[in-house]
Amino acid sequence: MRYASITDRLADLGSGRWAVHAEARRMKAAGEDVIELTIGEPDVAPDRALLDEAARAMHSGRIRYSNGRGEPSVLKALVDKYSKRRPGVTAENFLCFPGTQAALYIVMAGLVEAGDGVLVGNPLYATYEGVISSSGAHPVYVPLRPENRFHMQADDLERAITPECRVVMLNTPHNPTGAVLNAAEIAAIGEVCRRHDLWIVCDEVYEQLVFDDTTFASPFYMPELADRTIVVSSISKSHAAPGFRSGWAAGPTEFCQKLLPVSETMLFGVQPFIADMTAMALSQDFHMAPTMRTNYRRRAELAGQTFAGTNLVKPMLPEGGMFILLDVSATGLTGLEFAWELLRQERVAVMPGGSFGHEANGFLRISLTVPDDVLVTAMNRIGALASRLVETKRRASA
Ligand SMILES: Cc1ncc(COP(=O)(O)O)c(C=O)c1O
Repeated sequence: MRYASITDRLADLGSGRWAVHAEARRMKAAGEDVIELTIGEPDVAPDRALLDEAARAMHSGRIRYSNGRGEPSVLKALVDKYSKRRPGVTAENFLCFPGTQAALYIVMAGLVEAGDGVLVGNPLYATYEGVISSSGAHPVYVPLRPENRFHMQADDLERAITPECRVVMLNTPHNPTGAVLNAAEIAAIGEVCRRHDLWIVCDEVYEQLVFDDTTFASPFYMPELADRTIVVSSISKSHAAPGFRSGWAAGPTEFCQKLLPVSETMLFGVQPFIADMTAMALSQDFHMAPTMRTNYRRRAELAGQTFAGTNLVKPMLPEGGMFILLDVSATGLTGLEFAWELLRQERVAVMPGGSFGHEANGFLRISLTVPDDVLVTAMNRIGALASRLVETKRRASA
């Protein structure tokens, strides 16, 4: 049978990147004891009040059709949240979606098409290439350099721009690097975008997981960038609720008007009972984000300390998010080769950096969502494998 070209464009973007993870799951199912540090899913439970609110709303009949933009309760909560730092935003600046991922997909469909380029930092979150190429556009990579702590630099961005480029994708805090862009960096990037008339799509799904000594900044709050910035986010990470699939896009009113029919065509609205729970999540303080911030920061530091006495594995301390990158290039193996050896020899599953773009080929991505002692055990095994690999190589060449 014949299929549309989108199926080909997305065919190579999925399972290959997760092969180590899939093999680890297979081994676990077969009864093997594997430490899994692959996927970044919050390891705290959402507050009971949120689950009760979703159930209450469902039982009280909030199961009818919604509208394309979002339920009034969520729109009000979003206006309250964002107007604290950008007075004047209204419900017309928002569209609700079932998660950041859906928001990214629909936003990209509304901004670019075949022949267009989308600038994106490399390393990058694993679904971004799919999001870009689903629209027919192609990614144009901006290197994120370890020596800049993986922060996108305005001059790297400007050098990468080609005539077809229409959009810059930002992600702060960044997955997989944990980089958090500061206001000056965003302003400099914004200046390039203004000069080249580029949209900014900023994925802020880890906004609440910025570690305490770093300040979160967003182009959404910069008046000179307001007409070209679209933020996408959700309650998946902030409220440990990825399964609820509740997110949004925030952007100029004209953008929201233009995108509304696209969103309606695809979704026909989101679920009212989840909207009520989301409104509660956004309107009150809950313990999940502070707990995760404290835990992930402590674990990143613990992981870093494990490698203090060696230069074989170099931890890249994150400023936010739920991951840490380890540079294993000094072992002579790529991240992918190292990850397979680690699974086979040490029963530890990690993501090869290359799954997040070629600039991360020499790295491993470690999820910080396991208890401290499990993480330290895994880090010790990584250190042991690195030493063994290098010793074996030394003997072979002696
Ligand atoms: C950078 C980034 N964006 C988006 C998502 C997806 O978020 P959501 O659950 O809101 O669709 C993730 C999930 O891991 C992510 O890491």
